[in-house]
Amino acid sequence: MKKLTHKLAVTTALVSTLILGAANVQAQPTAEVLHYWTSGGEAKAVKALKEDFEANGGKWVDAPVAGGGGDAQAAVLRSRVLSGNPPAAVQIKGPNIQEWAEAGALGDLTQLGKQEGWDNVLPPLLQDIVKHDGKYVAVPVNIHRVDWIWINPEALEKVGGKPPRTWDEFNTLADKLQAAGIIPLAHGGQPWQDATVFETVALGIGGAEFFNKAFVELDADTLKSDTMVKVFDQMRKMRGYVDADFPGRDWNLATSMVMRGEAGMQIMGDWAKGEFIAAGKKPGKDFLCIPTPSNGGYILNSDSFAMFNVTNEDDKAGQTLLASLILGEKFQETFNLFKGSIPARMGVSPDKFDECAVKSMVDLQVSSKAGSLVGSVAHEIAASGAVRGAVLDVVTEHFNSDMTSEAAVARLAESIELAE
Ligand code: BGC
Repeated sequence: MKKLTHKLAVTTALVSTLILGAANVQAQPTAEVLHYWTSGGEAKAVKALKEDFEANGGKWVDAPVAGGGGDAQAAVLRSRVLSGNPPAAVQIKGPNIQEWAEAGALGDLTQLGKQEGWDNVLPPLLQDIVKHDGKYVAVPVNIHRVDWIWINPEALEKVGGKPPRTWDEFNTLADKLQAAGIIPLAHGGQPWQDATVFETVALGIGGAEFFNKAFVELDADTLKSDTMVKVFDQMRKMRGYVDADFPGRDWNLATSMVMRGEAGMQIMGDWAKGEFIAAGKKPGKDFLCIPTPSNGGYILNSDSFAMFNVTNEDDKAGQTLLASLILGEKFQETFNLFKGSIPARMGVSPDKFDECAVKSMVDLQVSSKAGSLVGSVAHEIAASGAVRGAVLDVVTEHFNSDMTSEAAVARLAESIELAE
C-alpha cells in the first residue's frame, strides 16, 4: 500500500510538472479511449484501467467498438484520424503501431519513458513493438498467448479422453466427443477466429521456423510447401468438428459453450480465460488450459495503447497520466488478472496468477530461449495489415467451402505476394 501511495504521488507530481510546464493553468487529464474490450472478462479489465485513471484525477471518455479481434474498431479509427479528430488513446498492436507512427499520427512518449525507466522494465521484445525510430509511441498492457485449447474436464472424462499432445490425438479426442454427442470444437466463424485456429495448426504442424519463413519472410516455397498442404488438411478436419451454427458467432459465446459442456474444446487466446474467470470458474477444476500441440511453441500477442496526436492540454495530460498508470506494477497485476493475460512489465510477482498464467510465463521464457516463440499473424503482431488480411481471406474461404488444400495453398501464396 505504501508503495502504491508513493507511486501515485510520483505520478501525480510528474503529471502536474508536465502540465504546468505546458500552460499556466491546471489541466484536467482527459482521455477518450478507443478499445474493443466489450466481453465479460474484457469489460472487467478495462474497468480496472478506468477506475485507476479516475482515482488519479483523470476524466475517462469511453469509446468501445464491439467486435472481437479489433477489425470493427480499425475502421472507426481510420475515419476518426482522416476527419482530423483522433481519440487520445487507442488499443492497437504490432506493425499497425508502426504504420500509424510512420504516417505521423502518434505522439511521442519518450520523455515520460525516460523519467519512468521503461527501458529497464519492458522486455526488448515489447520495446520493439511500441517504439518507432527509437521513440516510445505506445505502451503495452499485457502479453496474451494465442496457442491454447480450453477444455471442459467433464466432457473429457465422459469420453475417457486425455488432453491432446499431438494433432492426431486432438482428432482422436474430437472424434470421441462427436460420437458422444458433444460438439468437439466451439468456434465462431469470423475471419480472425478462423485464422486464430489456423495459426496454431501451422505452428504445430510446421514448427516455428516454418511459421516465420511463411508469414514473416513470406517465402513463396514455404507458402506452397507440402507442409502447408498438411496444415490446410488439418483445417478441413477442424471444419468437421464445429457445429452448424458456427458462422458469425462471437468468440465469447463459443467460450460459454465450453463452460456449459455443450462443446468439449475451444482454441482461442487467453482472453478466453478472462471469460471463465469472470463467470467464477476455476482453472484445473472447471476448465483446463492446454497449449495447442506444437514442439514447445508459443504464439505471442500483446495489446498496447498508442497515443494519437492531440493538441489540447487536457488531452495531452490525459495521455501522460494514462501511459504512466498502464506501466505501473500494481495496475499490471490487477488488469492482467481480469484479462487472462500476463504482465507486459517485467518483475511483477506471479503469486496472484493462476496455473495457466504461470504456465504462460514459464513457456514464454523457455520458447524464447529455444527459438520457438513466434508472433501472432491473426492478432497483428508478426505481419503487416495487408499480409494478415490475405491470410484471413484465404483461410476463411477455405474453411467455408470445399476448396482443396492444394488450391488453398496456391491461393495463399498468390494473395500474400499481392499483399507484399
Ligand atoms: C486482443 C485481445 C482481445 C481479443 C478478442 C485480441 O486480438 O489482443 O485483447 O480480448 O482480440 O477481442
